[in-house]
Amino acid sequence: MTFCILEGMVYNLMMSLRAWSVTFRYIVFGYRVPLADEKAIHDWFGKPWSVARRRAPDVGVYVKPGKTDLRSPCPAVNTMANHGFLPRNGRNISGGDLVRAMSATYNVSTPLGYIVAYGTLFLIGKLFHRVSLNDLAYHHGVEHDASLTRQNALPAAKHGPTHACPVLCKQLLDDAHDGGYYTVEELSKARIRREKEPGTSMDELRKEIARGEAALALNLFGGEDGKMPAEVMRTWWIGERLPEEWVPSKEITLFSTAKIARQIRLTMNRLRKEEAS
Ligand code: HEM
Repeated sequence: MTFCILEGMVYNLMMSLRAWSVTFRYIVFGYRVPLADEKAIHDWFGKPWSVARRRAPDVGVYVKPGKTDLRSPCPAVNTMANHGFLPRNGRNISGGDLVRAMSATYNVSTPLGYIVAYGTLFLIGKLFHRVSLNDLAYHHGVEHDASLTRQNALPAAKHGPTHACPVLCKQLLDDAHDGGYYTVEELSKARIRREKEPGTSMDELRKEIARGEAALALNLFGGEDGKMPAEVMRTWWIGERLPEEWVPSKEITLFSTAKIARQIRLTMNRLRKEEAS
């Protein structure tokens, strides 16, 4: 027990040192960690992280959620639970668990991991609590109207739906460019379509969060050319399962994600102007 706590503390310290040293090198020298090193670092620290490995040897293996397992409105989080990077039953999860799982599954940097995990816990009013995944569906916490795969929360409901809507999924699949891939352009169009639907209500923060979600997905799966394959939409976003043999090719940082979110905002503004003229 004491060993686990100590190991957790050492792990967090090392992750922070690594993240800050990489950030420092980016800012001061513009230095990019060579990909081979990144992979080595990722294998060492993540996939599966050491504590989880001891507790559950099947970490990384996909298992369809059972009837009593709880899930969230987020495809990325549900995927982590479906592969055992988070408890498969979706219960009793801390902010630290989310940060470690994001690093192990998606190679999300520690600073970004902390912002996403603890920002969410703050917005759902459970900053210092352990949560169940369905708590993340608390409406107007992070869960918002105009999701690309989830219907809006019912009027007066405290929580939005955690499951994807087949009609919205079909629309999103049809949005792929030539049926093959998604870029900032396709996801911006999809966001505009959802945001202008009657009965949709979103403040600026939730609009920013929604662009951030799309930016995270594009950053993660977009490749050098910024194209996210339609297969990823089908398998991961809708199917909540990691693509076969997939390993993250780079670290997902706050800077790179914010850059894509800004591109989505500018593209949405341009498309709206074009539509109005
Ligand atoms: C690499 C990490 C992550 C990625 C790539 C990611 C991606 C996404 C995407 C693409 C959506 C939009 C789903 C849709 O509109 O159909 C979404 C929604 C959401 N995410 Fe995540 N996410 C990540 C981590 C997290 C974490 C750690 C949390 C919470 C602790 C979280 C909470 C949510 C919530 C509550 C929603 C629902 C918002 C809504 O559509 O109403 N996400 N995420």
